[in-house]
Amino acid sequence: MTRDDHASSEAINKVRFVRSYAKINLTLDVLGKRPDGYHELATIMQTIDLYDTLCFSILDEDRVSMVCNRPELSNEHNLVVRAAQAIRQKLGLIRGLAIELNKRIPVAAGLGGGSSNAAATLLALQHWWQLPLSMHDLWEIASSLGSDIPFFLTGGLALCEGRGEQITPLAAHWPAPMRWLVLLKPAISVSTATVFRQLTASDYSNGSWSRAAETALQTRSALHPDDLYNSLERGVLEQYPEVAQAHTDMLQAGASFVRLSGSGPTLFSTFATLPAATRVQQHLQARGYEVYLTRPIAANNSEISFF
Ligand code: C5P
Repeated sequence: MTRDDHASSEAINKVRFVRSYAKINLTLDVLGKRPDGYHELATIMQTIDLYDTLCFSILDEDRVSMVCNRPELSNEHNLVVRAAQAIRQKLGLIRGLAIELNKRIPVAAGLGGGSSNAAATLLALQHWWQLPLSMHDLWEIASSLGSDIPFFLTGGLALCEGRGEQITPLAAHWPAPMRWLVLLKPAISVSTATVFRQLTASDYSNGSWSRAAETALQTRSALHPDDLYNSLERGVLEQYPEVAQAHTDMLQAGASFVRLSGSGPTLFSTFATLPAATRVQQHLQARGYEVYLTRPIAANNSEISFF
């Protein structure tokens, strides 16, 4: 290796870029309220090809700095800073870190953007700094920071139980009639805690929707849109007229069904072909909505198989 080669590889190692993908909830059963205040869930999550970009670089001071293209998120409460601090504290590291976060995933939208950013930070630092942390150590840090974060350590398609942190990865098989996804983000933010607080006992289920969807996916049998239930949807549609209107408008634009992702307010529908998805996307964009045309992706960014 020449001196120049060495210098350039050193430079490369001083900066690391990673992608941080969003998710949708295909199903979300709330089974009931737990003594610790959280709700017991069974939910099937899938990572999608909509991502934020994180850039990590060395900072010559013993602290974590963070800047974001959305200034309101540039602060020490951001989950990426909390994730980096948790790792530094756990291992007693004296090592400065600068994080830049380019957000594309809508914020407080039910797409797991903040949770994904935290998991991406844990994985990036583990890899970049060659840390002696097992997957279980990372899982513990992730679940202490938020219920959705452990899912993003593996991503892909998974059944998530408990308060969301118990992950069972599922084979990356996805129904061909649901190959394309159109997401609509109504122009409001929704607090997950508020949505959970507004649940009534009639919204609870015994987990059968998620279990049925899991079986259909694993056995590659038909998964009907009517089988995709989200316990949080009724409350969000009732509480937020903007979301109810967007739901109606998606159906009018040609979507055959519409579901809420997580605690919303993002709504999604699925399509077998790109022209069908594009037609609905363009219709909704013409009405002024924020719309994303995307697709499911597997863990490690590899391909999923469609059946
Ligand atoms: O775990 P996380 O901080 O992401 O959750 C945000 C809020 O959502 C919690 O404070 C709680 O009010 C609610 N929540 C819940 N049950 C869950 C997950 C979240 O009630 N399983």
